[in-house]
Amino acid sequence: MPALVLLGAQWGDEGKGKATDLLGGSVDYVVRYQGGNNAGHTVVVGDQKYALHLLPSGILSPGCTPVIGNGVVVDPSVLLSELSGLNERGVDTSKLLISGNAHIITPYNVTVDKVTERFLGKRKIGTTGRGIGPTYADKINRVGIRVQDLYDESILTQKVEAALDAKNQMLTKLYNRRAIAVEQVVGELLGYADKLAPYVADTVLVLNEALEQDKVVLFEGGQGTLLDIDHGTYPFVTSSNPTAGGACTGAGVGPTKISRVIGILKAYTTRVGAGPFPTELFDEDGEALRRIGGERGVTTGRDRRCGWFDAVIARYATRVNGLTDFFLTKLDVLTGWEQIPVCVAYEIDGKRVEELPYSQSDFHHAKPVYEMLPGWSEDISKAKSFSDLPKNAQAYVKALEEMSGAPISAIGVGPGRDETIEINSFL
Ligand code: IMP
Repeated sequence: MPALVLLGAQWGDEGKGKATDLLGGSVDYVVRYQGGNNAGHTVVVGDQKYALHLLPSGILSPGCTPVIGNGVVVDPSVLLSELSGLNERGVDTSKLLISGNAHIITPYNVTVDKVTERFLGKRKIGTTGRGIGPTYADKINRVGIRVQDLYDESILTQKVEAALDAKNQMLTKLYNRRAIAVEQVVGELLGYADKLAPYVADTVLVLNEALEQDKVVLFEGGQGTLLDIDHGTYPFVTSSNPTAGGACTGAGVGPTKISRVIGILKAYTTRVGAGPFPTELFDEDGEALRRIGGERGVTTGRDRRCGWFDAVIARYATRVNGLTDFFLTKLDVLTGWEQIPVCVAYEIDGKRVEELPYSQSDFHHAKPVYEMLPGWSEDISKAKSFSDLPKNAQAYVKALEEMSGAPISAIGVGPGRDETIEINSFL
């Protein structure tokens, strides 16, 4: 019963799209279990480059059924335009399944995201502005709108009324904005109902039946471990659980069904938005990582903050996710440095600390303790096996593996689908 979870081990953007897509050919279902169109996967197939935000990357593999689980928040207009964009390029999207329990990002959730960020000023989170946090807030406050509500106009109207009651007070009195009309929102949402209807399904039932029939199910996390609402660098996090436990709640599959948890780990570190980042670089090395690694957000177009590899974070990801394997990505980006610093511990208030401190105040003060590893200058993008890598690149990978607490089972050496070294098969 192979049920695999694939998730970001750092702050997102580790190259999950490539990893999921690599497995896509042998996987029957690819499931997103949290987040929404704040995510951004770039998948390169042949000479075609696809940027996906909401759809699971399995949508590009013909034999695979892509699933949007109950834990995801769905912006219908984004979903429909992503689908039609793929259809125009000849991709068949008819197999997509969407949970009727998934919550909808309404236009007012997007408005609230933008005005609250503006209101926070210097203290802003740096959200993607896609309405993610406010939609999850409505879910927890029990005033959310779910996909299934689109098929009962009276219920939908009552729920939108309930949600807008307090929000309109806040928008007009606190933020000095115009109130949002219930009928306008209901009209817009009803306009999506027929278009989404062919995809809506009881995805919990479908996935559990699939697992009983020994199908291969891949759960694809959006964002990353350090952006998790519980285990990340709160409050500079997203509003859901990208960590492994989120796959269970966000897809309705019990923990006993999960056979493998794979952490995607970039050979260096990046972060988008605000919040602590001990190994961040502000010099030309940081600029070089950004340039060579193409570190610009797929969703927002913002430059990513860049820094050296942080083994403390990798160990933390192994622990909170129960990782069985790592997929190390973008090793090729490090080609050309004479020496590569790797953060092995932190110094906090004069003390050496080996594990991620639970206190955010401590984490904000953490200074990286670096070990220098010898670099390599050979082009590694054509390497097909571990032994094809230059000795120093092999040693870099081995050192990371030892520090991070789980085996590195695959290595990305370039952006293309086939530019991957497989060490242990994931299936
Ligand atoms: P939100 O998810 O839009 O609420 O944004 C919260 C934080 O998560 C911000 O720092 C975003 O930049 C970050 N974030 C959200 N999605 C991603 C992602 O896919 N990759 C990296 N960072 C993300």
